This record gives sequence, structure tokens and C-alpha cells, in this order.
Amino acid sequence: MSPTADRQRVLSGMQPTGRMHIGHYFGALQNFVRMQESHDAFYFVADLHALTTFEDPSELWPNVTAMVADWIAAGIDPDKATIFLQSRVPEATELHWILSTITPVSWLERVPTFKEKSAQFPDNVNYALLGYPVLQSADILLYEANKVPVGEDQLAHLELTREIARRFNHKYGNTFTEPQADLTTTPRVMGLDGTNKMSKSRGNYIPMTADPDEIRRLISGAVTDVTRSYRKDPGHPESCNVCQLHKIISPNDYERIWEGERTAATGCVDTKRLLADRVIEYFAPMRQRRLEIEAREGYVEEVLVEGSEKAQVVASRTLARARAAVGLR
Ligand code: TRP
Repeated sequence: MSPTADRQRVLSGMQPTGRMHIGHYFGALQNFVRMQESHDAFYFVADLHALTTFEDPSELWPNVTAMVADWIAAGIDPDKATIFLQSRVPEATELHWILSTITPVSWLERVPTFKEKSAQFPDNVNYALLGYPVLQSADILLYEANKVPVGEDQLAHLELTREIARRFNHKYGNTFTEPQADLTTTPRVMGLDGTNKMSKSRGNYIPMTADPDEIRRLISGAVTDVTRSYRKDPGHPESCNVCQLHKIISPNDYERIWEGERTAATGCVDTKRLLADRVIEYFAPMRQRRLEIEAREGYVEEVLVEGSEKAQVVASRTLARARAAVGLR
């Protein structure tokens, strides 16, 4: 079943982590932008999910708006995609409750992210941390998503969503669309430390819309090929983080770059300089758009309010069906 006859619905959400980095861009946003052309796209900020681990209330909203500004700068177009805020559509929390009544605790306890988060925040193993994937299921089922583009770390949540949908449909009659995960094809972007995935918490990232000086500074400090002690040593571009970034950002000239590294015709410093140029060039239009968005006071909030109203129309229809199915009147 698809929401409209000709277009499948795609939906994805992200926790409000503030400014996006180039790992977010190549791992997710680029794909979101592409999919808004061919799908009925819904992208949202999972601020309720963020509360499960969030520390500082005063940072939540700035993180929401900074992230959405970067989404729009990256090319997500509010006229094409519905961009909304999870907490502005309270139907999700109500559906979450209904779904939680058919979700065995044992399913939730074996979710890998629950185990990880419990280990990471032993003093805050709260009820919502366990229920996290049920709220996520509500997000997905509420909007009748056919496809959910996510990273590998979210596949277990998607599988759980499908199981919950099946169980509900079996028990109460056909109510929900079973979604498909849509795994992004971009290899994961490594951080500047060369050992971990690029992430905000590790501080090994390049902000997507950083200014040119900052990009140069960050890249000049990147860890490169650790096996190469001397400038004349041949390099190993396949294990060099900077070369891997070249491969993603400038696929047309990475062969040449790799050859230069392998034969020691070029050194790490040259390669980093070139990468900085490429990153600056690649993200320049987005940086420009970001500045324009910042100059329009209240714009991001307006996008979220309008998007949330549109999302709510869909959400309330699905919720009404689910309420009727379980006998609420
Ligand atoms: N759990 C997701 C993450 O941490 C965010 C999320 C919440 C989400 N609800 C969703 C993603 C629904 C896809 C669909 O990245």
C-alpha cells in the first residue's frame, strides 16, 4: 500500500545534534536530497528521542534549528519535502503508547542500541531508553512510510518496527504499512583521527558549512597514513583516511591522487592541501545558503511549524485508524 498512487513515501529522522558534519552529509543528507525528487519525503527532528540522553535543556532548541538550517542548506527543500519536529505532532506519543501494549519487553531488551546506551549511561537507564524503538516505530508507522533511509546502526530498530506492525495487523486487522529499511550506499566517513567514524562526540569532524580557514586548519591536523614515516616512503591510500575522503568528495581525480601517494610522488601535506581545496569548493554553495538562512530570522522555525502541520494531517488519520482498531472511542 502506498500513500499516493504514484509516489512512495520516504521518512527519516535524526536526533538534534546541532550543526551537521560532512559525515552526515555523505552518509544521509545527500540521499535525503535525492529522494525528495522521486518520493513523498518526510524528514523530521527526533527531539523526543533526544530527551532519553540529553543533558542541557537550553541547548535543545539551538541544536534543532542549527540542524534544520544545515538540512535546508544541504538542499532539502521545504517545498518538496515535509520537514517537521517530532514533538509538535503529539500523535506519535499516543501511538507509541498503543504500540507499547503489544511489544514484548524481551524484544526491547535485545536491541543492540539499548545495551550500548545502558552501558554508556549506567546512571540513567530510564524507561524511555528501553521504549526508544517503540517511539521510533510509532514515527514510522504513523506516516505510513514505505522506505526509511538509515545507517546500519538503525537496522535493528527497523526490523522491530516491522515486527510490531505485523503483530498489530495480525491482532487487530490490517492497519499499518510495513516499512523497508533503505541502507545508504556511501561507505561510512571516517573522522580526522583516522580510526573512528566521523562523529560529533569524538570531535573528529569537519562541519559541513565551516569557513575555509577552519576547513584548512582541521584537515591539516588530520591523521594520514601512519605507516609512512618519511616523505619518500610509498603510501597506502587504501588505508589513508585523507585519501578515502578524496575518494568520496572528488571521485574523478582520486585515481591520480592514489597513484601519487602509492609512488610517493606526492606527500601527505600536498594531499591534505588538495583535499581542503576540494572540501571548500564542494560545500561553498551550501555555506552560502547557510548564511542566507541565518539572515532570515525565524525562517527555520516557520519551516518546522508549517511542516509539522502538514505531518499532523497524515498522523491524525493513521492514529484514528489505530485507535479504532484497539477499541478506543
Ligand atoms: N533513532 C534514530 C537515530 O538515532 C532517529 C529516529 C527516530 C528515526 N525516529 C526515527 C530514524 C524514525 C528513522 C525513522 O538516528
